Amino acid sequence: MNDALELLKSRRSIRKYKDQPVEEEKIKKCLEAARWAPSASNKQPWEFLIVTDEQVRKKLSEIHPYARFVAQSPLVFIPLTNPTIHQKYHMSDTALATMQYMIEAHSLGLGTCWAGVIGSAIEPEVKELLNVPEHLNVLGLVATGYSNEEPTKTRKELEELVHYEKY
Ligand SMILES: Cc1cc2nc3c(=O)[nH]c(=O)nc-3n(C[C@H](O)[C@H](O)[C@H](O)COP(=O)(O)O)c2cc1C
Repeated sequence: MNDALELLKSRRSIRKYKDQPVEEEKIKKCLEAARWAPSASNKQPWEFLIVTDEQVRKKLSEIHPYARFVAQSPLVFIPLTNPTIHQKYHMSDTALATMQYMIEAHSLGLGTCWAGVIGSAIEPEVKELLNVPEHLNVLGLVATGYSNEEPTKTRKELEELVHYEKY
């Protein structure tokens, strides 16, 4: 098994995309990666929605003030959480599945960017547009496609974050 660190460190949020569709086999692999995420009591409180329709992506980009890029990415992965399956951990479990999707996408040469939706004022509008049932939440919109940029990012130093034995 390979060390995942370089893969994890080289993933960046991508907000500019090439006009190039994503191969179906690659998306299937990303969905498979999401499906195998860990979850509390293995309850898997998630469902996934894939949107490629240009008009729907454009509408999503108009609804979400910080996700204009979903109009440009050829595909949007939309993780849905199900609080009726696990009231306490539906959000964290589905976030893990989403991260696994994003890491698999990166390993396949695809860029992604997650734009948060759950609990925001726009969530009802997103649900209505996508016909999402009442009992599910929209965790976010994950733009997916071939990157047309090379963004950089920094992180806080470990010394600022890590405590040993006691705080
Ligand atoms: C829960 C969540 C919500 C986010 N929402 C947005 C968003 O609405 N718009 C956006 O452009 N990026 C969004 N991002 C991406 C973050 O801005 C990005 O992950 C962060 O700046 C670190 O950059 P990197 O992913 O390139 O390392 C979100 C990320 C997460 C995890």
